Amino acid sequence: MCGIIGIISNTPVAERLITGLERLEYRGYDSAGIATVVNNEIERRRAPGKLQTLKNLLAEQPLPGMVGIGHTRWATHGAPNAENAHPHANEHVAVVHNGIIENYAEIKNELQTKGYTFSSETDTEVIVHLLTDYLLKGLTPLEAVTQTLSHLHGAFALAIVFAKHPNLMIATRCGSPLVLGVGEYDIMLGSDALALASWAQKLCYLEEGDVVSISKNNNGDFDYQIIDSEGRSVERPLRQSKITAEAASKGEYSHYMLKEIFEQPRAIGETLQSAVDFESKHIDCANFDINWQSLTRLTIIACGTSYYAGMVAKYWFEKYAKLHVDVDIASEFRYREPIFCEGGLTLFLSQSGETIDTLAALNMAKEQKQQTLAIVNVTDSSIARLSDNVLYTAAGPEIGVASTKAFTTQLTLLACLAIVAASKRGKITEEDHQRLTEELIMLPGKISKVLQQDQTFHKCALTISGARDALYLGRGTNYPIALEGALKLKEVSYIHAEGYPAGELKHGPIALIDSAVPVVVLAPHDAWFSKTLSNLQEVMARGGQVICFTDSKGEVELKKQISSSFHLQIIVLPTVPSFVAPILYSIPVQLLAYYVALQKGTDVDQPRNLAKSVTVE
Ligand code: G6P
Repeated sequence: MCGIIGIISNTPVAERLITGLERLEYRGYDSAGIATVVNNEIERRRAPGKLQTLKNLLAEQPLPGMVGIGHTRWATHGAPNAENAHPHANEHVAVVHNGIIENYAEIKNELQTKGYTFSSETDTEVIVHLLTDYLLKGLTPLEAVTQTLSHLHGAFALAIVFAKHPNLMIATRCGSPLVLGVGEYDIMLGSDALALASWAQKLCYLEEGDVVSISKNNNGDFDYQIIDSEGRSVERPLRQSKITAEAASKGEYSHYMLKEIFEQPRAIGETLQSAVDFESKHIDCANFDINWQSLTRLTIIACGTSYYAGMVAKYWFEKYAKLHVDVDIASEFRYREPIFCEGGLTLFLSQSGETIDTLAALNMAKEQKQQTLAIVNVTDSSIARLSDNVLYTAAGPEIGVASTKAFTTQLTLLACLAIVAASKRGKITEEDHQRLTEELIMLPGKISKVLQQDQTFHKCALTISGARDALYLGRGTNYPIALEGALKLKEVSYIHAEGYPAGELKHGPIALIDSAVPVVVLAPHDAWFSKTLSNLQEVMARGGQVICFTDSKGEVELKKQISSSFHLQIIVLPTVPSFVAPILYSIPVQLLAYYVALQKGTDVDQPRNLAKSVTVE
């Protein structure tokens, strides 16, 4: 939800601000803007829509300046037009903001009474005028920022530049992420480390409530100072940055989504490497102080795609670890009155580690003295830091807004965790432990085989791309994958799709079936196959067009039992044990959604209205 960047340099910054914003566009792409300080004046360029419009504007009206801030917006308050685009500014200050100022309306009223006039509908603009009010009273920039912050309620990150202090930038993090980057030639800030890749050799992840003041002296040397939420000057660890600029590029692929789908064998392999001893086929990834043996309940909390990963994990933990599992959507959980049981473990799944609802649920669980564990993809993200324990997926940066590799690596780590829990609870033998681990180790190779078939999905996308609605059906661990498949299709192709447990078909959705509604069925030849086959027959009998993902045994059965006069496309996937099947079956639903979107000509990587990191409610 909005990406921000700021750079202080000894050379012009506009071009790098734009490159940084390109890497942050996954956070929102409703409008974009940059501002610099030139000759003690604020200069800015803003444009509605994608970054390209801003780039075109800059080609006509270049922006000089060696100190600047930039923003890419996911609109919350006010339409996505140029007036509401950030940076918001007057002749004294310019501000970029990620997050929401909840009490902006009352602050706006007070400022209007004092005579300040507003030129946008945003919550952000109050910050510009509040700061100005304090600056005009004679406060220093840092004092003005501190005073301004004392008025603001909400979750936000800000970066501010000052017309009369041209070598200074002040930023703060209060609920939204912000990282400081120190490079050889510049000093900078960004919503994530990727935005700063290749310029910042060292990174410092700011803590909640930190205010950082970065500056350059007359010799062109950089300096920074961090003040914590108590007003004390503090040191924060500086770490070597491992993120390369290549991580932010599409390489040979036409879209990030396709690149990230194809990266899955590597991403899953690296995630396994972090958890598995390949020699002994033993998993020891959760060496935390969790007493699995006496654990009575596991609560998994997440949003969106991560929630579906949690749903799959429920099947695994119940089956192998014989553990009671609840899976909850964070935005519901946090506003219910959930019953926490003593000694319960609460597991938070979040790819970004910043999702506001998941973060709030984590705070709630901590208040209730629950033990907390998080699985996240982003190092040092808020959820990673707040949770008692953390496990990292090794997906690497995911830029396509529709999640692919971040989801399958979550599943991979959850599968590892289920094996650990099952062993520690004495519910599986060492032999079973090794067998299940081996099944995971074999998975990247099987996924590569699915990827080699990608043109098959291209062809079968034709069945869906003309449809208005589609249904996805699955049973067992493939039911959440049916939900994920439907979500992927909605996100990138704008076709209405629903995922259903195949057994629920009769309880309503069968009324939708006719020849215009394609039905995607996930049916590996497993314990549920014959049941799913009956449901598939029911669809076909009503003229439905079915695309069935199955394995070679399933293909034989289908060919035996379904009349060739029906509209049935069978896509044969590699045979895998049912434990890992949901991970493998995620790949075809991703590819199908991708190719449908491609045929429809939608913006695959930046679908309308979406953003990847959801830092507002
Ligand atoms: C957004 C993203 C999804 C993601 C969800 C939860 O909706 O588009 O891919 O699953 O947020 O985000 P998280 O980072 O907590 O997994």
